[in-house]
Amino acid sequence: MKIPPIHVDCARLSAELEELARFSDAEPPAVTRVLFTESDLKARAFLKGLFREAGLIVREDAAGNLFARWPGARPDEPAVATGSHVDAIPFSGRYDGTVGVLGALEAFRVLKAAGWSPQRSLELIVFTSEEPTRFGIGCLGSRLLSGVLDSAAAAALRDADGCPFEAVRRQAGCTGSLDSVRLPVGHYAAFVELHIEQGPLLEREQVPIGVVTAIAAPAALRVRLQGEGGHAGAVLMPQRKDALCAAAEIILAVEEAARSSGSLDTVATTGVCRVHPGAINGIPSEVMLEIDVRDIDLGTRDRIVERIRQAAEPPASRRGVGLQMELLYADPPARANEAVVMAVTDACSQLGLPCQRMISRAYHDALFMARLYPMGMIFIPCKDGISHRPDEYSSPEAIRRGVEVLALTLARLAESPPA
Ligand code: GLV
Ligand code: MN
Ligand code: MN
Repeated sequence: MKIPPIHVDCARLSAELEELARFSDAEPPAVTRVLFTESDLKARAFLKGLFREAGLIVREDAAGNLFARWPGARPDEPAVATGSHVDAIPFSGRYDGTVGVLGALEAFRVLKAAGWSPQRSLELIVFTSEEPTRFGIGCLGSRLLSGVLDSAAAAALRDADGCPFEAVRRQAGCTGSLDSVRLPVGHYAAFVELHIEQGPLLEREQVPIGVVTAIAAPAALRVRLQGEGGHAGAVLMPQRKDALCAAAEIILAVEEAARSSGSLDTVATTGVCRVHPGAINGIPSEVMLEIDVRDIDLGTRDRIVERIRQAAEPPASRRGVGLQMELLYADPPARANEAVVMAVTDACSQLGLPCQRMISRAYHDALFMARLYPMGMIFIPCKDGISHRPDEYSSPEAIRRGVEVLALTLARLAESPPA
């Protein structure tokens, strides 16, 4: 395929990543950008400005998913989509998600600057709340777009302060019915997401590009423990129903369930533990835990979730603590589309870049886009495989290569999409 040489402006892209990182509720280098907080809204306004400056047509849906379209010569044909997210978990880094958003914008700009223009439209999507921080459920925007989550269930989700998503999104200026968010089958010809690997393989093997073939299956549980509060000095030990002590046993059972699964691919994490009343001299009366469980094998993942459910009961009942468990989500893995994988591989060959097929252990909006559209992902190395930490880092050179591969992949897909 004939595409003129492209030139990524690394200085511009690095400056934009840096500016985006400033919209944060944490001191640099940490980034905290939670859905529809002031920092998130400012980041969104910054992005809309950049998209418009680049001549893209911007639309925002009722869930806050942002779309920036480069109309093609055949605008009625399904567009080729790309994108990622810009929300960031508390005290994380500046590259997770953002590389796939600003990198996609740069890919559009370099193609345009090279004199190329699309037959099919290209569309950049900034997905709402890929991170589960605020509403306990990851990939909120892409779940709604793909119909995996229905609008009534989404509207009813509540944050830690009890505010429903419905009210929060309206306050953020997202009007219209959530029913309108879902996209029809055939709306896109393909979806491809650029992302940092969030693992150590590419750096270790010194391969600049990972071509994702499948995304592992994530699940999450929420556990509520109801004990009995009281004075930390006055209530004697035999009389206690300490919700946090029950939680401590459950947290260890979660770790043990993953460690003893028989597979190194099983991971389980209790990443949220909220204690009420949270006073040194008050016996914990209520605890809420959120537990993340993943495996690339769906059967193993489900077995571990079940084992955790069963392991939680004995410590709670022995301690006289009430236990409620809710399965927040349990998603199947997704396979990349072979034609999209080939488009990425061919783009790498065209650029003379070695690439390696790999599985994504992290989830991404691509997991849900794959339900409706041929999906692929491009990974770039990140330092020491570190992610979800302030010291997350991907070099300008690694990002440049990722953008080049994305640009050529999009151009290929826009000219010959998967059948
Ligand atoms: C995405 O951030 C994930 O937790 O995999
Ligand atoms: Mn993340
Ligand atoms: Mn991400």
